[in-house]
Amino acid sequence: MSMKRPAGPLVERPELEDALRARLAALCAEGWSIFERFDTDVRDHEFHPFVAAEYDVVLSSLLAHRAPRLRFLEWGSASGVITIMADLLGYDAYGIELDASLVATARALAERFDSKARFAAASFLPAGYVFKNGDGDERTGTIGAGESGYLQLGHALDDFDVVFGYPWGGEEPMMHDLMRQYGRADALLLVHGVNDGVKAYRGGRLVAG
Ligand SMILES: C[S@@+](CC[C@H](N)C(=O)[O-])C[C@H]1O[C@@H](n2cnc3c(N)ncnc32)[C@H](O)[C@@H]1O
Repeated sequence: MSMKRPAGPLVERPELEDALRARLAALCAEGWSIFERFDTDVRDHEFHPFVAAEYDVVLSSLLAHRAPRLRFLEWGSASGVITIMADLLGYDAYGIELDASLVATARALAERFDSKARFAAASFLPAGYVFKNGDGDERTGTIGAGESGYLQLGHALDDFDVVFGYPWGGEEPMMHDLMRQYGRADALLLVHGVNDGVKAYRGGRLVAG
């Protein structure tokens, strides 16, 4: 998975006011510092599934799809950068992350950026979810297991207008299946690929990216 720190993010964003652009740039810079520390302190010693997304690429996608009163969910929100970015852009933003220490990091980051983004320390899989990909293999491909986070958030998956995920290899079919089984038919699923940016799907069909 990619770990590219962008050279100079957010320079060309004429659609954003200066103050918001500066806040987003500071958020991304802090996100990269958090990830670099995490990489040295944790990932150099043991496997951990947290790999930071390409924040600037995700920002473009969130800008392209933003509209008033959209509710946003990040599956596997890690340090919280993308959920906070969505909140700063005007989405009603939530994240679910299994690793409770990363959720603590995300909440502290949200506080520093005066963001209302909310996080659950739990699994993004709905309770009782069984993966159905048609070939009888019910393994979800997702890294971890835990109590489902939707009750903590006070919203079921079909309450969200936009859902974002940065899947590990093997997880993407499960993400589409989750939307098919539990998401709203008109909701947007944004999938961040390792080498191909962010693709947007609605009702299982590619609509952008
Ligand atoms: C590839 S990282 C993506 C991090 C973040 N979304 C980003 O793009 O910067 C995947 C994250 O999902 C978390 N995760 C894996 N399985 C999960 C599950 N079932 N429920 C919630 N979080 C999960 C991992 O702990 C990890 O932080």
